[in-house]
Amino acid sequence: MVITKAERDVPDFYKKTDPKLLPDYSAFEMVSTWTWGPVGLYCYGPSGSGKSRSVYRLIESQGWDTVVVTGNEFQSELVERNRPGGIGGWDDWLSDLRHLDVLYFDDVSKLRFSDRCESEFHSLLDYRITHEYPTFFTSELSIDDFGQRISDDNRAGITRRIKEFCQPVRFGCGMNWTDNEEYIRQQCEREFA
Ligand SMILES: Nc1ncnc2c1ncn2[C@@H]1O[C@H](COP(=O)(O)OP(=O)(O)OP(=O)(O)O)[C@@H](O)[C@H]1O
Ligand SMILES: [Mg+2]
Repeated sequence: MVITKAERDVPDFYKKTDPKLLPDYSAFEMVSTWTWGPVGLYCYGPSGSGKSRSVYRLIESQGWDTVVVTGNEFQSELVERNRPGGIGGWDDWLSDLRHLDVLYFDDVSKLRFSDRCESEFHSLLDYRITHEYPTFFTSELSIDDFGQRISDDNRAGITRRIKEFCQPVRFGCGMNWTDNEEYIRQQCEREFA
């Protein structure tokens, strides 16, 4: 394992989660009743609705070997580990991610895809699915909206895999979801224009 034990631990910040304080308790309950199997979770909803805390809580309660890859980490690891003079070890890092009990992409909607990043993400997902390892996601975007970030070549393949192999859990239904979704879409359009 090139990924250290410390990197696989739930951060102290998330260990302090009290389920009663979460803004969407019913979504938290859906996450916490997830049972082990090849179908993971895709938790989506507005910022602050408790997605990350709920998934971290589930991971912490089970003691699986898990790695959390946040936001742009996947892309930045790829760049850093492959550039000449960089830290190297991309294949080992990827191999660790392939074989974990649980891989957790926190805030996947923040992931910026280069062509290489997209195809590595696609094949990582495919490897885990074919070997029946579950993957968890949190995202501010629905699966289809997330798919809009992906190029035509990979969009259908990636979104189909997530749809078939992740149970969607929508967070923030008690919030003003429609407005918030529109707001998030506008933010993303601005950010990725
Ligand atoms: N100690 C706590 N225990 C439980 N919930 C908390 C606690 N402190 C804050 N919260 C709630 O958790 C929410 C943030 O949770 P979390 O970070 O999981 O949101 P998120 O949906 O992942 O947001 P983002 O999309 O921005 O990452 C806050 O809006 C607040 O309501
Ligand atoms: Mg989060």
